Amino acid sequence: MKSVLKFNTLSRGIKGYRGLSGNDCKDFIVLGVETSCDDTGVGVVTSSGAILADSRHSQLAWHQKTGGVNPKVAGKLHREYLGSVMETALRDAGIKMKDVYAVAATVGPGLALSLEAGMDFTKKLVAKENKPFIPVHHMEAHALTACITHPVSFPFLVLLASGGHCILTVCEGPGKFLRLGECRDDAPGEAFDKIARALRLHTHPLVSDLSGGRAIEVLAKFGNPEKFPFPRAMSQRLDCMFSFSGIKTHTMRVITSQEANDPTGPHSPVLQCEDISAASLAAISRHLVTRTQRAILYCIEKWPTLNHLVVSGGVASNLYLRKKLEELASYYGYHFSCPEPSLCTDNGVMIAWAGIEHIKAGLPLMKDLSTLKFIPKWRLGKDISNVVADERIKVKVKMK
Ligand code: KG4
Ligand code: ZN
Repeated sequence: MKSVLKFNTLSRGIKGYRGLSGNDCKDFIVLGVETSCDDTGVGVVTSSGAILADSRHSQLAWHQKTGGVNPKVAGKLHREYLGSVMETALRDAGIKMKDVYAVAATVGPGLALSLEAGMDFTKKLVAKENKPFIPVHHMEAHALTACITHPVSFPFLVLLASGGHCILTVCEGPGKFLRLGECRDDAPGEAFDKIARALRLHTHPLVSDLSGGRAIEVLAKFGNPEKFPFPRAMSQRLDCMFSFSGIKTHTMRVITSQEANDPTGPHSPVLQCEDISAASLAAISRHLVTRTQRAILYCIEKWPTLNHLVVSGGVASNLYLRKKLEELASYYGYHFSCPEPSLCTDNGVMIAWAGIEHIKAGLPLMKDLSTLKFIPKWRLGKDISNVVADERIKVKVKMK
């Protein structure tokens, strides 16, 4: 059974609150729980956009040992750490559960065992504390994160690039998305992670404890992208779809030929890993920027009032890519917003904020979660990629 609830009024001011004072604040607090993949996150956010807590536990060190996210281990670690991550969040925020108006959690998409761990935890919490609940789509949460810290109004164009997804979509409001294009195969973060593993970057002293994408970003600064030329991905297809498998396969070929005369062995990074990092980062960014440029051209035609490009998801924490996309937006007279790098990767704050956006938009809250199921595969909004492809839009500016 679903029921719509009204906002409550907090009885006291809370440390760190933006724009609130004393006893008469009408602001409300949402607690967000994120467990879609390998990060356990609990965030506490106010409806006016103050982030009271951003508590996280990363499983990266566990999964690095086995060369990729192990779903069983991920589920087990979420169950082990959720309680303490939530306690830390409440302590950091200086609040108790009674101060929380509603709880939001990622329902999908993601790894089944990770989502299930989050759902089991949240269902118990919601029942015990008698709080209303907001089910959240993980990629919608990434898309709305920019609205916490930037003046973004609907509609806006958003590029979502993460470890599991790559989507170009117009966001018309909470729960209202039109997909212009998405990934046919590996997501960009997945491509970065596989390339980083093949380069054996976990053995590189400078980047051994970083995610694949971040490790490549750091090493790329020391490399020359022109040492290893890459072909342009999907240059004949005039749509907004993405494919990173060609770039990944090309990089693997380069790595294999390096390994053929590699005296370093399996416990050291591949020779010239800096140049290969720089070349693959440039190639992946070029593909993302080209498709985004086509999406902007489509939006200029179809949504004359839309003039804002938002970029989010783990890969959007990459400063090289952000700069290229910001230049693109500015070329077309678009505003550009990207959450700060730490809010681009998975966290509980973005889930809490998505919940707040749903409440503000008057979307229904849930009270009875007995029939609620997690959704490992869940597409965001309506697919209009064929309509976009039919326009056969040629891009004006070619990124190097
Ligand atoms: O959004 P996210 O935290 O989790 C998913 O929803 O998938 O994204 C994680 C992905 C990983 O593949 C990671 O390698 C990538 O984001 N990533 C980066 C950077 N930091 C994280 N990719 C490129 N540059 C970065 N600085
Ligand atoms: Zn994510």
